[in-house]
Amino acid sequence: MSVSSSGSAAYSGSLEGSNAQRGLWSSRLAFILAATGSAVGLGNIWKFPYVTGENGGGAFVLVYLLCIAIIGIPIMMAEVMIGRRGGHSPVNSIKAIAQRDGLNPAWKLVGAVGILAGFLILSFYSVIGGWAISYVGTTASGQLSGQTADAVGAIFSGLLSNPGTLLLWHTVFMALVMLVVAKGVRSGLERAVSILMPALFVLLLIVVGYAMTTGHFGQAAAFLFQPDFSKLTTSGVLVALGHAFFTLSLGMAVMMAYGSYLPKKISIAKTSITVSVIDTGVALLAGLAIFPIVFANGLEPGAGPGLIFQTLPLAFGQMPMGSLFGTLFFVLLIFAAWTSGISLLEPIVEWLEEQKGMNRTVSTLGAGVVCWALGITSILSLNLWADFAPLGFIPMLEGKTIFDLLDFFTANILLPLGGLLVALMAGWVMSKPAMEKELALSPGTFNLWFVTVRFITPIAVGVVFIYNLM
Ligand code: PHE
Repeated sequence: MSVSSSGSAAYSGSLEGSNAQRGLWSSRLAFILAATGSAVGLGNIWKFPYVTGENGGGAFVLVYLLCIAIIGIPIMMAEVMIGRRGGHSPVNSIKAIAQRDGLNPAWKLVGAVGILAGFLILSFYSVIGGWAISYVGTTASGQLSGQTADAVGAIFSGLLSNPGTLLLWHTVFMALVMLVVAKGVRSGLERAVSILMPALFVLLLIVVGYAMTTGHFGQAAAFLFQPDFSKLTTSGVLVALGHAFFTLSLGMAVMMAYGSYLPKKISIAKTSITVSVIDTGVALLAGLAIFPIVFANGLEPGAGPGLIFQTLPLAFGQMPMGSLFGTLFFVLLIFAAWTSGISLLEPIVEWLEEQKGMNRTVSTLGAGVVCWALGITSILSLNLWADFAPLGFIPMLEGKTIFDLLDFFTANILLPLGGLLVALMAGWVMSKPAMEKELALSPGTFNLWFVTVRFITPIAVGVVFIYNLM
């Protein structure tokens, strides 16, 4: 089989030792910063609290944590390993491994799933990123101070009912993402992660501190950590699984792309665990910040995607220096969403460059503008098309707007599917000695990982899928 592909500049040398021609991360820290920048985003602060609220709390959180531990971390290791062994962009890495290990080149389907998923996710992710931008102004203007839950709710509904404003901020968010992807240099941004992520963490701690004064912290902790399995549904398990993939940026070949820059001497297992622990920590902290406010104000935990925008502003309206903290918080949230958004757009731009021979500016503009246009359907789902459920005739998708469908199809179907393919590739077809060398684990730990990706992950994903179809 010939592996040389047209228009692939980074792919011209020999396959062995191919990392030599690409710059590598300078250190383990640099990789961790980039991967954390992708993983920590709206998924942790916006999505985790609202899906937890919608799915009844504790039991859902437990399943989510189990998915992170037994499916997420092993898949992240597999993705990083495939990337590093391949040494190229995901599609070409898989081609290179296919050639070396004699696999069917059709495995590059993993890359295709990733490109499609990233493109679809970014279309609505950018709309939510726009909400965060809009809330910088809302908090900075001081209009939240001393407001009631009703007034804060009205401000949020006001935003959703205004397609023009939503479009403006969606456009700004998408432009920010496109700007960085078009330039192709992110080193400055990665360094910024090392300052801004800890800052976001500290602000979350401040909100948790405020939440402790509401008198409902215990109730919130019980809601999050005392599993009540009667509240867990089959679809809740699917959402927990899908969210584990979404929040760790898995199933989309992002970690594969980043892994291709990881120096050989660095432990894949340790770095993957570090990124996953940071990501999970941020999500749990967001839960502990938000639910006390929910209970203290008699709000509905299952309020849906608006949950953080109906609770956090209340906290910022009441705590000392709330306008300052609130403004900072939303600025940092935009930054976290931005670094994730970049990793969502990158795969399709890289693909257009390598396979279609377009230059970076043109491919960024092309993909970005189409993605932006698709985002308009999500904006309309929040107002003019709020009652439009295009696939409502399928029982499982009843009442789902286009926005809901995009979220459901990507997070709960495409990403687990991409992860399943990665697990099958590592567990069943790649050369075992080569993987042993790449992961450099003790034989016991390697076998634990191997059995997980070979059996546990495929069975778990398969069972959840089949149950949900029935
Ligand atoms: N992990 C990101 C978040 O939690 C979203 C994302 C998903 C980014 C998939 C890249 C790939 O916000």
